[in-house]
Amino acid sequence: MASWTPLARVSDCPPGTAKELVAGDRVIALFRVDDDTFCALDGVCPHQGGPLGKGTLDGCVVTCPWHGWQFDVCTGENQINRQIVQPWFDVRVEDGWVLIDLERP
Ligand code: FES
Repeated sequence: MASWTPLARVSDCPPGTAKELVAGDRVIALFRVDDDTFCALDGVCPHQGGPLGKGTLDGCVVTCPWHGWQFDVCTGENQINRQIVQPWFDVRVEDGWVLIDLERP
């Protein structure tokens, strides 16, 4: 069962940007890919713990600011090794807020 938690105001997330946020006991990397597309990953890079929410977003790919690992922000797939999949979360927009379902993954 989904448990939707307010994560950020839509107005605080310009298209093409990444944001590091805390929800519950998790660090979340929130990405606004375009006007209508929000994606959220576990914000801790699986390489050495870098902050994916402070990475650079290019299209739907984020580059970790520490050593450059890249992930599809909508699927979590590492762009070099597809065996590595960063945990991702369902998000939706409601009444000007981005909501996240922390029950997943
Ligand atoms: S910690 Fe993210 S690439 Fe190294």
